[in-house]
Amino acid sequence: MEPPLCILVTGGAGYIGSHTVLQLLLDGYKAVVVDNLDNSSEVAINRVQELAGDRALNLSFHKMDIRDKPALEKLFASTKFDAVIHFAGLKAVGESVEKPLMYYNNNIIGTLTLLQVMTAYGCKKLVFSSSATVYGSPKEVPCTEEFPLSAVNPYGRTKLMIEEICRDIYSSDPDWKILLLRFFNPIGAHPSGKIGEDPHGIPNNLMPFLQQVAVGRQPKLQVYGTDYSTKDGTGVRDYIHVVDLADGHAAALRKFSDPKIGCEVYNLGTGKGTSVLELVSAFEKASGKKIPMEKTGRRRGDAEIIYASTAKAERELNWKAKYGLEEMCRDQWNWASKNPKGYQNEDDVVN
Ligand code: NAD
Ligand code: UD1
Repeated sequence: MEPPLCILVTGGAGYIGSHTVLQLLLDGYKAVVVDNLDNSSEVAINRVQELAGDRALNLSFHKMDIRDKPALEKLFASTKFDAVIHFAGLKAVGESVEKPLMYYNNNIIGTLTLLQVMTAYGCKKLVFSSSATVYGSPKEVPCTEEFPLSAVNPYGRTKLMIEEICRDIYSSDPDWKILLLRFFNPIGAHPSGKIGEDPHGIPNNLMPFLQQVAVGRQPKLQVYGTDYSTKDGTGVRDYIHVVDLADGHAAALRKFSDPKIGCEVYNLGTGKGTSVLELVSAFEKASGKKIPMEKTGRRRGDAEIIYASTAKAERELNWKAKYGLEEMCRDQWNWASKNPKGYQNEDDVVN
Protein backbone atom coordinates (compact mmCIF):
# COMPACT_ATOMS: atom_id res chain seq x y z
CA MET A 1 0.00 0.00 0.00
CA GLU A 2 1.21 3.52 -0.87
CA PRO A 3 2.02 5.73 2.15
CA PRO A 4 -0.48 8.59 2.58
CA LEU A 5 0.34 11.86 0.81
CA CYS A 6 1.64 14.48 3.21
CA ILE A 7 0.27 18.01 2.95
CA LEU A 8 1.65 21.11 4.67
CA VAL A 9 -1.21 23.40 5.69
CA THR A 10 -0.15 26.93 6.64
CA GLY A 11 -2.75 28.72 8.75
CA GLY A 12 -4.36 25.34 9.43
CA ALA A 13 -5.58 26.33 12.90
CA GLY A 14 -7.74 29.10 11.39
CA TYR A 15 -11.36 29.05 10.29
CA ILE A 16 -11.08 27.61 6.77
CA GLY A 17 -7.82 25.81 7.57
CA SER A 18 -9.24 23.74 10.44
CA HIS A 19 -12.19 22.55 8.35
CA THR A 20 -9.88 21.69 5.46
CA VAL A 21 -7.43 19.80 7.68
CA LEU A 22 -10.30 17.68 9.00
CA GLN A 23 -11.41 16.92 5.45
CA LEU A 24 -7.85 15.94 4.45
CA LEU A 25 -7.53 13.57 7.41
CA LEU A 26 -10.86 11.95 6.62
CA ASP A 27 -9.73 11.56 2.99
CA GLY A 28 -6.64 9.65 4.16
CA TYR A 29 -3.96 12.37 3.90
CA LYS A 30 -1.31 13.22 6.47
CA ALA A 31 -1.51 16.90 7.45
CA VAL A 32 1.18 19.04 9.01
CA VAL A 33 -0.13 22.38 10.26
CA VAL A 34 2.01 25.45 10.82
CA ASP A 35 0.28 28.41 12.40
CA ASN A 36 1.49 31.24 14.63
CA LEU A 37 -1.95 31.32 16.31
CA ASP A 38 -2.16 35.05 15.61
CA ASN A 39 -5.88 34.74 14.82
CA SER A 40 -6.64 31.24 16.06
CA SER A 41 -6.35 28.82 18.93
CA GLU A 42 -4.66 25.48 19.42
CA VAL A 43 -8.01 24.25 20.76
CA ALA A 44 -9.16 24.12 17.12
CA ILE A 45 -6.39 21.62 16.39
CA ASN A 46 -7.42 19.48 19.38
CA ARG A 47 -11.04 19.52 18.21
CA VAL A 48 -10.03 18.50 14.68
CA GLN A 49 -8.14 15.58 16.21
CA GLU A 50 -11.22 14.64 18.19
CA LEU A 51 -13.37 14.70 15.06
CA ALA A 52 -10.84 12.73 13.02
CA GLY A 53 -11.04 9.67 15.30
CA ASP A 54 -8.28 7.18 14.55
CA ARG A 55 -7.02 9.41 11.70
CA ALA A 56 -5.95 11.97 14.34
CA LEU A 57 -2.50 10.41 14.40
CA ASN A 58 -2.00 11.72 10.87
CA LEU A 59 -2.11 15.33 12.10
CA SER A 60 0.80 17.25 13.58
CA PHE A 61 0.93 20.88 14.63
CA HIS A 62 3.83 23.34 14.80
CA LYS A 63 3.35 26.77 16.33
CA MET A 64 5.43 28.67 13.84
CA ASP A 65 5.44 31.89 11.85
CA ILE A 66 5.92 31.21 8.13
CA ARG A 67 8.28 34.19 8.00
CA ASP A 68 10.65 32.26 10.26
CA LYS A 69 12.74 30.84 7.41
CA PRO A 70 15.15 28.70 9.49
CA ALA A 71 12.20 27.05 11.27
CA LEU A 72 10.42 26.39 7.97
CA GLU A 73 13.63 25.00 6.44
CA LYS A 74 14.05 22.67 9.39
CA LEU A 75 10.52 21.41 8.89
CA PHE A 76 11.03 20.82 5.15
CA ALA A 77 14.34 19.09 5.88
CA SER A 78 12.63 16.63 8.22
CA THR A 79 9.43 16.00 6.21
CA LYS A 80 8.80 15.43 2.53
CA PHE A 81 5.69 17.36 1.56
CA ASP A 82 3.70 16.32 -1.50
CA ALA A 83 1.92 19.68 -1.64
CA VAL A 84 1.25 22.85 0.35
CA ILE A 85 -2.10 24.48 1.05
CA HIS A 86 -1.37 28.08 1.99
CA PHE A 87 -4.01 29.78 4.15
CA ALA A 88 -1.74 31.73 6.52
CA GLY A 89 -2.27 35.46 6.30
CA LEU A 90 -4.02 38.45 7.77
CA LYS A 91 -7.47 39.16 6.36
CA ALA A 92 -9.14 42.17 8.00
CA VAL A 93 -9.70 44.78 5.30
CA GLY A 94 -10.09 47.80 7.63
CA GLU A 95 -6.98 46.89 9.58
CA SER A 96 -5.04 46.53 6.32
CA VAL A 97 -5.92 50.14 5.44
CA GLU A 98 -4.66 51.34 8.83
CA LYS A 99 -1.58 49.09 8.97
CA PRO A 100 -0.51 48.40 5.38
CA LEU A 101 3.09 47.56 6.33
CA MET A 102 1.88 44.88 8.71
CA TYR A 103 -0.21 43.34 5.91
CA TYR A 104 2.54 43.49 3.28
CA ASN A 105 5.00 42.10 5.78
CA ASN A 106 2.85 39.20 6.89
CA ASN A 107 1.12 38.24 3.66
CA ILE A 108 3.81 39.02 1.08
CA ILE A 109 6.98 38.21 3.04
CA GLY A 110 5.27 35.16 4.53
CA THR A 111 4.37 33.85 1.08
CA LEU A 112 7.78 34.67 -0.42
CA THR A 113 9.51 32.84 2.42
CA LEU A 114 7.26 29.83 1.94
CA LEU A 115 7.83 29.81 -1.83
CA GLN A 116 11.60 30.10 -1.38
CA VAL A 117 11.71 27.16 1.02
CA MET A 118 9.39 25.10 -1.21
CA THR A 119 11.69 25.79 -4.17
CA ALA A 120 14.80 24.86 -2.19
CA TYR A 121 13.26 21.53 -1.16
CA GLY A 122 11.74 20.74 -4.55
CA CYS A 123 8.11 20.91 -3.39
CA LYS A 124 6.35 22.55 -6.33
CA LYS A 125 2.65 22.01 -5.74
CA LEU A 126 0.75 24.88 -4.15
CA VAL A 127 -2.90 25.66 -3.42
CA PHE A 128 -3.31 29.34 -2.53
CA SER A 129 -6.23 31.07 -0.78
CA SER A 130 -7.08 33.97 -3.00
CA SER A 131 -10.29 35.93 -2.70
CA ALA A 132 -13.22 37.30 -4.67
CA THR A 133 -11.87 40.66 -3.53
CA VAL A 134 -9.57 40.56 -6.61
CA TYR A 135 -12.66 41.26 -8.78
CA GLY A 136 -13.06 44.68 -7.08
CA SER A 137 -16.50 46.04 -7.96
CA PRO A 138 -17.36 43.93 -11.01
CA LYS A 139 -19.32 45.57 -13.86
CA GLU A 140 -21.46 42.47 -14.23
CA VAL A 141 -22.18 39.18 -12.48
CA PRO A 142 -21.59 36.27 -12.23
CA CYS A 143 -17.80 36.77 -12.04
CA THR A 144 -15.84 34.47 -14.30
CA GLU A 145 -12.17 33.79 -13.72
CA GLU A 146 -11.32 35.91 -16.80
CA PHE A 147 -12.78 39.14 -15.35
CA PRO A 148 -10.40 42.10 -15.01
CA LEU A 149 -8.65 42.21 -11.63
CA SER A 150 -8.31 45.12 -9.26
CA ALA A 151 -7.77 45.84 -5.61
CA VAL A 152 -9.07 48.68 -3.50
CA ASN A 153 -7.24 48.07 -0.25
CA PRO A 154 -3.89 46.67 0.95
CA TYR A 155 -5.43 43.29 1.89
CA GLY A 156 -6.82 42.89 -1.63
CA ARG A 157 -3.54 44.06 -3.11
CA THR A 158 -1.65 41.33 -1.23
CA LYS A 159 -3.96 38.70 -2.78
CA LEU A 160 -3.49 40.18 -6.24
CA MET A 161 0.30 40.43 -5.81
CA ILE A 162 0.56 36.85 -4.60
CA GLU A 163 -1.48 35.66 -7.59
CA GLU A 164 0.93 37.53 -9.89
CA ILE A 165 3.97 36.15 -8.05
CA CYS A 166 2.59 32.63 -8.56
CA ARG A 167 2.00 33.24 -12.28
CA ASP A 168 5.61 34.51 -12.61
CA ILE A 169 7.01 31.49 -10.77
CA TYR A 170 5.11 29.16 -13.05
CA SER A 171 6.34 30.92 -16.19
CA SER A 172 9.91 30.67 -14.91
CA ASP A 173 9.61 26.98 -14.09
CA PRO A 174 6.77 24.90 -15.59
CA ASP A 175 7.40 22.10 -13.10
CA TRP A 176 5.26 24.08 -10.67
CA LYS A 177 1.59 23.23 -10.30
CA ILE A 178 -0.30 26.10 -8.69
CA LEU A 179 -4.01 26.38 -8.00
CA LEU A 180 -5.24 29.83 -7.07
CA LEU A 181 -8.62 29.44 -5.41
CA ARG A 182 -10.74 32.58 -5.21
CA PHE A 183 -13.03 32.10 -2.25
CA PHE A 184 -16.32 33.95 -2.13
CA ASN A 185 -17.89 34.42 1.34
CA PRO A 186 -17.34 31.39 3.59
CA ILE A 187 -19.78 31.03 6.48
CA GLY A 188 -21.17 28.15 8.57
CA ALA A 189 -19.28 25.61 10.60
CA HIS A 190 -18.72 21.88 10.86
CA PRO A 191 -22.12 20.24 11.63
CA SER A 192 -20.71 18.80 14.88
CA GLY A 193 -20.48 22.34 16.30
CA LYS A 194 -16.94 21.57 17.46
CA ILE A 195 -15.08 23.84 15.05
CA GLY A 196 -16.09 27.16 13.54
CA GLU A 197 -15.02 30.75 13.10
CA ASP A 198 -13.65 32.52 16.15
CA PRO A 199 -12.11 35.81 15.04
CA HIS A 200 -10.08 37.76 17.58
CA GLY A 201 -11.49 41.23 18.29
CA ILE A 202 -14.62 42.77 16.77
CA PRO A 203 -15.54 40.92 13.56
CA ASN A 204 -15.59 42.83 10.28
CA ASN A 205 -17.55 40.31 8.29
CA LEU A 206 -21.31 40.01 8.30
CA MET A 207 -21.85 36.45 9.56
CA PRO A 208 -19.44 36.47 12.54
CA PHE A 209 -20.91 39.82 13.55
CA LEU A 210 -24.47 38.48 13.26
CA GLN A 211 -23.44 35.53 15.42
CA GLN A 212 -22.08 37.83 18.12
CA VAL A 213 -25.32 39.84 18.11
CA ALA A 214 -27.30 36.60 18.50
CA VAL A 215 -25.27 35.51 21.56
CA GLY A 216 -25.39 38.99 23.12
CA ARG A 217 -21.76 39.95 22.56
CA GLN A 218 -22.78 42.86 20.29
CA PRO A 219 -25.92 44.96 20.74
CA LYS A 220 -27.04 45.29 17.11
CA LEU A 221 -26.09 44.77 13.50
CA GLN A 222 -25.36 47.78 11.35
CA VAL A 223 -26.60 47.26 7.81
CA TYR A 224 -24.10 49.01 5.56
CA GLY A 225 -26.16 50.60 2.82
CA THR A 226 -29.81 50.18 1.85
CA ASP A 227 -29.74 52.11 -1.41
CA TYR A 228 -27.93 49.65 -3.69
CA SER A 229 -29.59 48.60 -6.97
CA THR A 230 -30.33 45.14 -5.61
CA LYS A 231 -33.53 43.27 -4.75
CA ASP A 232 -33.93 44.97 -1.33
CA GLY A 233 -31.29 47.71 -1.52
CA THR A 234 -28.66 45.86 0.53
CA GLY A 235 -25.38 44.35 -0.70
CA VAL A 236 -25.45 40.95 -2.41
CA ARG A 237 -22.78 38.28 -1.85
CA ASP A 238 -22.13 34.63 -2.61
CA TYR A 239 -22.11 32.85 0.77
CA ILE A 240 -20.59 29.39 0.74
CA HIS A 241 -20.60 26.73 3.47
CA VAL A 242 -17.09 26.33 4.89
CA VAL A 243 -17.42 22.54 4.62
CA ASP A 244 -18.02 22.94 0.86
CA LEU A 245 -14.91 25.12 0.71
CA ALA A 246 -12.89 22.44 2.53
CA ASP A 247 -14.21 19.93 0.02
CA GLY A 248 -13.05 22.27 -2.77
CA HIS A 249 -9.52 21.99 -1.39
CA ALA A 250 -9.69 18.22 -1.48
CA ALA A 251 -10.80 18.52 -5.12
CA ALA A 252 -7.85 20.86 -5.80
CA LEU A 253 -5.40 18.30 -4.39
CA ARG A 254 -6.88 15.62 -6.65
CA LYS A 255 -6.39 17.97 -9.60
CA PHE A 256 -2.60 17.77 -9.09
CA SER A 257 -2.67 14.31 -10.62
CA ASP A 258 -3.71 15.92 -13.94
CA PRO A 259 -0.47 16.15 -15.98
CA LYS A 260 -1.78 19.18 -17.90
CA ILE A 261 -2.20 21.40 -14.87
CA GLY A 262 0.03 24.50 -14.63
CA CYS A 263 -0.98 27.67 -12.82
CA GLU A 264 -4.78 27.80 -12.77
CA VAL A 265 -7.45 29.97 -11.13
CA TYR A 266 -10.79 28.72 -9.82
CA ASN A 267 -13.71 30.47 -8.16
CA LEU A 268 -15.06 28.67 -5.12
CA GLY A 269 -18.59 29.94 -4.63
CA THR A 270 -22.16 28.72 -5.02
CA GLY A 271 -23.17 30.96 -7.92
CA LYS A 272 -26.10 32.33 -5.87
CA GLY A 273 -26.43 35.92 -4.66
CA THR A 274 -27.91 36.65 -1.21
CA SER A 275 -28.63 40.11 0.21
CA VAL A 276 -27.73 41.23 3.74
CA LEU A 277 -31.42 41.23 4.72
CA GLU A 278 -31.95 37.75 3.27
CA LEU A 279 -29.01 36.42 5.26
CA VAL A 280 -30.25 38.07 8.45
CA SER A 281 -33.68 36.59 7.93
CA ALA A 282 -32.30 33.06 7.28
CA PHE A 283 -30.14 33.36 10.39
CA GLU A 284 -33.07 34.56 12.50
CA LYS A 285 -35.03 31.53 11.35
CA ALA A 286 -32.20 29.12 12.15
CA SER A 287 -31.43 30.63 15.55
CA GLY A 288 -34.91 31.63 16.67
CA LYS A 289 -33.36 34.98 17.69
CA LYS A 290 -34.50 38.41 16.57
CA ILE A 291 -31.48 40.39 15.36
CA PRO A 292 -31.67 44.10 16.22
CA MET A 293 -30.60 46.12 13.16
CA GLU A 294 -29.70 49.67 12.36
CA LYS A 295 -29.64 50.77 8.75
CA THR A 296 -26.56 52.94 8.15
CA GLY A 297 -24.60 54.31 5.20
CA ARG A 298 -22.50 52.31 2.77
CA ARG A 299 -19.12 50.92 3.87
CA ARG A 300 -16.24 52.38 1.86
CA GLY A 301 -14.92 50.03 -0.80
CA ASP A 302 -17.94 47.71 -0.76
CA ALA A 303 -19.11 46.18 -4.01
CA GLU A 304 -22.83 46.30 -4.72
CA ILE A 305 -23.35 42.79 -5.98
CA ILE A 306 -20.89 39.98 -6.43
CA TYR A 307 -21.31 36.27 -6.98
CA ALA A 308 -19.35 33.56 -8.71
CA SER A 309 -19.57 31.76 -11.97
CA THR A 310 -19.00 28.20 -10.82
CA ALA A 311 -18.74 26.62 -14.28
CA LYS A 312 -14.95 26.30 -14.40
CA ALA A 313 -14.62 24.64 -10.98
CA GLU A 314 -17.50 22.29 -11.81
CA ARG A 315 -15.98 21.35 -15.14
CA GLU A 316 -12.29 21.10 -14.23
CA LEU A 317 -12.23 20.32 -10.51
CA ASN A 318 -15.36 18.21 -10.62
CA TRP A 319 -16.51 20.11 -7.56
CA LYS A 320 -19.77 21.88 -6.75
CA ALA A 321 -21.05 23.37 -3.48
CA LYS A 322 -23.71 21.14 -1.91
CA TYR A 323 -25.12 23.23 0.93
CA GLY A 324 -27.68 26.02 0.86
CA LEU A 325 -28.27 29.06 3.05
CA GLU A 326 -30.46 27.15 5.47
CA GLU A 327 -27.70 24.63 6.26
CA MET A 328 -25.09 27.38 6.49
CA CYS A 329 -27.18 29.26 9.08
CA ARG A 330 -28.13 26.08 10.95
CA ASP A 331 -24.49 25.05 11.34
CA GLN A 332 -23.36 28.57 12.18
CA TRP A 333 -25.93 28.73 14.97
CA ASN A 334 -25.09 25.24 16.21
CA TRP A 335 -21.44 26.31 16.57
CA ALA A 336 -22.34 29.70 18.07
CA SER A 337 -24.76 28.34 20.64
CA LYS A 338 -22.38 25.58 21.72
CA ASN A 339 -19.38 27.92 21.87
CA PRO A 340 -20.71 31.38 22.73
CA LYS A 341 -17.17 32.55 23.50
CA GLY A 342 -15.57 30.72 20.62
CA TYR A 343 -12.54 28.68 21.67
CA GLN A 344 -11.81 31.10 24.51
CA ASN A 345 -12.93 28.90 27.34
CA GLU A 346 -12.94 25.16 26.78
CA ASP A 347 -15.13 24.65 29.86
CA ASP A 348 -17.97 26.59 28.22
CA VAL A 349 -18.56 23.99 25.53
CA VAL A 350 -22.09 22.66 25.66
CA ASN A 351 -22.05 19.04 24.55
P1 NAD B 1 -8.10 32.86 9.73
O1 NAD B 1 -7.55 34.14 10.26
O2 NAD B 1 -9.07 32.14 10.56
O3 NAD B 1 -6.89 31.87 9.35
C1 NAD B 1 -5.62 32.32 8.98
C2 NAD B 1 -4.62 31.62 9.88
O4 NAD B 1 -3.30 32.00 9.52
C3 NAD B 1 -4.80 31.98 11.36
O5 NAD B 1 -4.90 30.81 12.11
C4 NAD B 1 -3.54 32.77 11.70
O6 NAD B 1 -3.15 32.57 13.05
C5 NAD B 1 -2.56 32.21 10.71
N1 NAD B 1 -1.44 33.12 10.35
C6 NAD B 1 -1.51 34.42 9.96
N2 NAD B 1 -0.28 34.89 9.69
C7 NAD B 1 0.58 33.86 9.89
C8 NAD B 1 1.99 33.72 9.76
N3 NAD B 1 2.76 34.74 9.37
N4 NAD B 1 2.55 32.53 10.06
C9 NAD B 1 1.78 31.47 10.46
N5 NAD B 1 0.45 31.56 10.60
C10 NAD B 1 -0.14 32.73 10.31
O7 NAD B 1 -8.71 33.18 8.29
P2 NAD B 1 -9.56 32.27 7.32
O8 NAD B 1 -10.89 32.88 7.19
O9 NAD B 1 -9.45 30.86 7.69
O10 NAD B 1 -8.80 32.56 5.95
C11 NAD B 1 -7.78 31.71 5.46
C12 NAD B 1 -7.22 32.31 4.18
O11 NAD B 1 -8.28 32.47 3.25
C13 NAD B 1 -6.60 33.70 4.37
O12 NAD B 1 -5.46 33.78 3.54
C14 NAD B 1 -7.68 34.63 3.88
O13 NAD B 1 -7.17 35.84 3.38
C15 NAD B 1 -8.30 33.80 2.77
N6 NAD B 1 -9.70 34.19 2.50
C16 NAD B 1 -10.60 34.23 3.52
C17 NAD B 1 -11.90 34.64 3.27
C18 NAD B 1 -12.93 34.71 4.38
O14 NAD B 1 -13.93 35.37 4.21
N7 NAD B 1 -12.73 34.04 5.50
C19 NAD B 1 -12.28 35.01 1.97
C20 NAD B 1 -11.33 34.94 0.96
C21 NAD B 1 -10.03 34.54 1.23
C1 UD1 C 1 -15.10 41.58 2.85
C2 UD1 C 1 -13.96 42.35 2.26
C3 UD1 C 1 -13.24 41.48 1.25
C4 UD1 C 1 -12.74 40.19 1.89
C5 UD1 C 1 -13.93 39.48 2.55
C6 UD1 C 1 -13.46 38.27 3.33
C7 UD1 C 1 -14.50 44.74 2.40
C8 UD1 C 1 -14.80 45.97 1.61
N1 UD1 C 1 -14.43 43.60 1.67
O1 UD1 C 1 -15.94 41.19 1.80
O2 UD1 C 1 -12.13 42.18 0.71
O3 UD1 C 1 -12.16 39.33 0.94
O4 UD1 C 1 -14.59 40.38 3.45
O5 UD1 C 1 -12.67 38.65 4.41
O6 UD1 C 1 -14.31 44.81 3.60
N2 UD1 C 1 -22.23 44.05 6.10
C9 UD1 C 1 -23.11 44.75 6.90
N3 UD1 C 1 -22.83 44.88 8.23
C10 UD1 C 1 -21.69 44.37 8.80
C11 UD1 C 1 -20.79 43.67 7.98
C12 UD1 C 1 -21.08 43.53 6.64
O7 UD1 C 1 -24.15 45.22 6.42
O8 UD1 C 1 -21.49 44.55 10.02
C13 UD1 C 1 -22.55 43.86 4.67
C14 UD1 C 1 -21.53 44.40 3.71
O9 UD1 C 1 -21.79 45.72 3.38
C15 UD1 C 1 -21.68 43.43 2.51
C16 UD1 C 1 -22.10 42.12 3.17
O10 UD1 C 1 -22.59 42.47 4.45
O11 UD1 C 1 -22.72 43.86 1.68
C17 UD1 C 1 -20.96 41.13 3.33
O12 UD1 C 1 -19.88 41.77 4.01
P1 UD1 C 1 -18.59 40.98 4.50
O13 UD1 C 1 -18.99 39.78 5.25
O14 UD1 C 1 -17.68 41.96 5.18
O15 UD1 C 1 -17.91 40.46 3.16
P2 UD1 C 1 -17.47 41.25 1.82
O16 UD1 C 1 -17.90 42.65 1.85
O17 UD1 C 1 -17.92 40.44 0.67
